[in-house]
Amino acid sequence: SDPVPFYGEHQAGIVTPAQDRLHFVAFDVITDKRAELVELLQEWTAAAARLTQGKDAGTFGAIGGSPEAAPDDTGEALGLPASGLTLTIGFGPSLFDDRFGLASRRPAALADLPKFPGEQLVPEISGGDICVQACAHDPQVAVHAIRNLARIGFGKVSVKWSQLGFGRTSSTSRAQSTPRNLMGFKDGTNNMKLEDAQLLRDHLWASGNDWMAGGTYMVTRKIRMTIETWDRTSLSEQEAIFGRDKGAGAPLGRKAEFDTPDFNATGPDGQPYIKADAHVRLAHPSHNGNAHLLRRGYNYVDGSDGLGRLDAGLFFIAYQRDPRTAFVPVQTNLAKHDALNEYIKHVSSGLFACPPGVRDAGDYWGRTLF
Ligand code: HEM
Repeated sequence: SDPVPFYGEHQAGIVTPAQDRLHFVAFDVITDKRAELVELLQEWTAAAARLTQGKDAGTFGAIGGSPEAAPDDTGEALGLPASGLTLTIGFGPSLFDDRFGLASRRPAALADLPKFPGEQLVPEISGGDICVQACAHDPQVAVHAIRNLARIGFGKVSVKWSQLGFGRTSSTSRAQSTPRNLMGFKDGTNNMKLEDAQLLRDHLWASGNDWMAGGTYMVTRKIRMTIETWDRTSLSEQEAIFGRDKGAGAPLGRKAEFDTPDFNATGPDGQPYIKADAHVRLAHPSHNGNAHLLRRGYNYVDGSDGLGRLDAGLFFIAYQRDPRTAFVPVQTNLAKHDALNEYIKHVSSGLFACPPGVRDAGDYWGRTLF
């Protein structure tokens, strides 16, 4: 498959049509030297520019360097194409503490998320100073990219947590078909998409002329599903929970996937087709002050939990211009009222400021911040 261009006004991996595989990593910075951090970002950028074009991480490559030295690429992607690889970086709130003199540069939109009712966040798999989202059509290519960035960062950053995702749960372009999540429903139908130029300008990209202009904010939530309980729930109950039918993905009361939901329409019993606690009603922009998200999440199964259950769910990723007026109101609404809550548990959370795109080979990830 064709490589995705690395350079541009915005980072790739956001409106890029969602690839099938994810390897997401959050790093903590362990050096306390600002110059070392900047140097690492420059090295990472050079490696990312190469990796996303299907090349080895370093200029010698896995087998081209001195036999006496450790190779500057680990080798497991030798012979594999670029596979649509994108690498997208974000900076967490903790990077803006006193260590690097960045406190005054912390954007207001990077405000810590509030505590949401019902969440059971595990600190060890939440947060992080820097994240990198690797997406590709081939899992080996995504893992190879993250592994090599971690290798390059040795001594300056350490991996705090990472997450593999095996199937996209959103479409970010009208050219893509809508995939299904692990509850079996089409996911991403009413997502913000590449073609929605006006929506992207108004709700995705940060504007103004500070260092974040052309960037965006990422929220991640690892959401475990109790799929064994879900799997014993009747089809009509499942459809009522989302407010869409399971086959076509149509809003209840309508026929086709992309029909507009009518939240006022009532069925023969006089009750609304889309119930008050249905996920799509509660998440819809019309019920959240016109909040829009670009969702770009992945299905995950992390083996089993030792208690006879699969450890499975949704690794939710959403991009937006300002989480305070997008993710936060939507999740507040969902956490309080969503019928889906009986079947899910939020176990990890991340918030990151994703800087604008890298313009050319002389530019680097985060240059406008430093
Ligand atoms: C819509 C599933 C969590 C925000 C949907 C749809 C499904 C779905 C099946 C309908 C199809 C579509 O338009 O994409 C899930 C599952 C979740 C989950 C299984 C958890 C495991 C979340 C969270 C948020 C969210 C945490 C944000 C805080 C939305 C939004 C829509 C949506 C904004 C579109 C609503 C509309 O405009 O019609 N979700 N979702 N979802 N979801 Fe979720």
